[in-house]
Amino acid sequence: MAKLVYLMRHLRESGADRKLQQLILELAEASKYIAHTIKTGEMGYAGTSNLYGENQLALDLLADKIIKDRLDHTGLVSYMISEEMNSIVSSHENAMGPYSVCYDPLDGSSLIDTNLSIGTIVSIMPGKQVLQPGKNQAAALYFLYGPRTELVYTVGNGTHIFVLNDAYEYILQSEYVTLNGFGNIYAPGGLKQEWTASHTLFINHLEDEGYKLRYSGAFVADINQLLAKKGGIFTYPALKGKQEGKLRMVFELFPMAFIIEQAGGAASNGTLRILDLEASDFSQRSPIYIGSKKEVALAAEFLKRI
Ligand code: F6P
Ligand code: MN
Repeated sequence: MAKLVYLMRHLRESGADRKLQQLILELAEASKYIAHTIKTGEMGYAGTSNLYGENQLALDLLADKIIKDRLDHTGLVSYMISEEMNSIVSSHENAMGPYSVCYDPLDGSSLIDTNLSIGTIVSIMPGKQVLQPGKNQAAALYFLYGPRTELVYTVGNGTHIFVLNDAYEYILQSEYVTLNGFGNIYAPGGLKQEWTASHTLFINHLEDEGYKLRYSGAFVADINQLLAKKGGIFTYPALKGKQEGKLRMVFELFPMAFIIEQAGGAASNGTLRILDLEASDFSQRSPIYIGSKKEVALAAEFLKRI
């Protein structure tokens, strides 16, 4: 029988800094409480709304608090910002940690009542600056809460997938995951009537080529599907009257772009590589084309046409 590889051992052998290893392990511990809360939790509305005017479900707030409380006294983090917080917060260790963390505590939370998969996305930046170019990330990871709970991480040395077992340990499922040069699924976000003409042509092209529609409404689940199926594309494009699209750069796009690039894929805003961009504000959004290289390059071609 193949030997089980635990997350701690994998991290030890990853070449990552010891404190970065520790930070990822702390996040993995937090995710176990979130996974448990999702399984058993109260699902009513909390009655407040976040910065972006979305209703916050109680579970969003709980997931946010679980991560913040976990990281607060580790001495590993200077600053933290989450999609649910209105401002950057410093850790109680006098903002002395070697890393800063941006996270989306419960991505796809509008799906909670449907019992479809949702997730947590985390971007780890070196130092005290939260706003840095995406390519500066020290690590990126996500947790997927589905029929199985999974952890996918990169520290810049490949993308690796772990599954939470019955003993609540993350066990390696596959390491150095790679996307093929192209795939056969597409996940198109945004209302069709709000797409630009060139984006519509791109999606029509994929449909003509026989790509299968696979859009769940949770970014984490859709990205995980690209990794599992080894290719395809997810888009949330610029919309008419909403040029910046929907997804947030620091909480969602930077970490996923890092994970997908490390798996041999690509991520662009339609013109530029996502990881070359820098957000001027933590709430900044961007259009996104992410997945296997061929489809991402093809999107750029189509967007140039009109
Ligand atoms: O966090 C934003 C998010 O919920 C993503 O998880 C998801 O991909 C997207 O929004 C879904 O948006 P829409 O409901 O417009 O399809
Ligand atoms: Mn999200």
